[in-house]
Amino acid sequence: MSADLDSIIHEAREAVGALAGRAQFEALKARFLGPNGSLTEAVKGIRDLPREERPDYGKRCNQIKTKLEAILATALKKIELAELQRSLGPPVDPSLPSPDGGPGGCHLLSSVREEICRIFHKVGFNVEEGTEVETEFYCFDALNFPSDHPAKDVHDTYLLPSSVIYGNVPKRDKESYLLRTHTSTVQVRVMMAKEPPLRFVSPGRCFRRDTADPTHTSNFHQVEGIYVDRHVTVKDLKALLDYFVAALFEKDVKTRFRPSFFPFTEPSFEMDLKSPSLGKLSNQWIEIMGCGMVDPAVFEAVGYDPEVWKGYAFGMGVERVAQSLYGVDDIRYLYQNDLRFLEQFA
Ligand code: PHE
Repeated sequence: MSADLDSIIHEAREAVGALAGRAQFEALKARFLGPNGSLTEAVKGIRDLPREERPDYGKRCNQIKTKLEAILATALKKIELAELQRSLGPPVDPSLPSPDGGPGGCHLLSSVREEICRIFHKVGFNVEEGTEVETEFYCFDALNFPSDHPAKDVHDTYLLPSSVIYGNVPKRDKESYLLRTHTSTVQVRVMMAKEPPLRFVSPGRCFRRDTADPTHTSNFHQVEGIYVDRHVTVKDLKALLDYFVAALFEKDVKTRFRPSFFPFTEPSFEMDLKSPSLGKLSNQWIEIMGCGMVDPAVFEAVGYDPEVWKGYAFGMGVERVAQSLYGVDDIRYLYQNDLRFLEQFA
């Protein structure tokens, strides 16, 4: 009997070396300790022994069981460790530098904005910037919006709680802070700070309460432009914008002005363009920007004499320009940061 017990340990030692996983471990454990396991059967055999041999045999069985359990526990630990290592993947050395992601590139919106500014800079336009947080005065009142204009409604504009203080945005009584709905705010800021004549473009981010669809997002970009001097006419405006469009598209492009309305320009126009080589948009009129002659009421608001000074202004959406140039048919692609899309333009 005792020799049988020793062979259990011998067998167990050999078998654990070949275990490949938890299922095999459980089967091996059952082979010794299960209801019909060899050690279980050996313990049952105590009944057939003469009385005086039973105490020694029982003791021996317990010793073997303890040994066997220790062998099995070590084997289980080994299996658990292997499982953990498998779940962690290959070993990581945190002291190594991260893998090189390759050179970065310019986002399509940034490169189109730069290109627009570069074209205007060539003919004397500086770049001026404003702030994204504004007040009603700069966004609406100084631009001749009547006080009940729908654009001032909370449904169209993100108004900010008055408890918030923005250091560099002066606020008048009872005015609200808001996220600017257009870059025309920069016209007002610069004209209030500088004397005419002046000529600049102002690129920047704008916000409107729009639900996202292929042509709208609540956050978008514009480039505004303004020229103020003593003798400025619609002819000058049209000539400048034709130059701009020809330089930007480098293609055979036709333009047209359509009458429109903005509170801060009079007369006001929408400019459309058409080209035979704009992919899906070929040969259809595409609305590209709003423009017009600066309304005398704006000059009055900023302290310029409207009898002396004339000017034109224009404003375009950077997304719209990028979409027309590159045939991007959904504005939301520009914000999803999918490298497969962005890398095409970088
Ligand atoms: N601010 C106008 C808009 O957001 C665009 C514009 C700018 C129109 C300048 C005329 C002159 O739609």
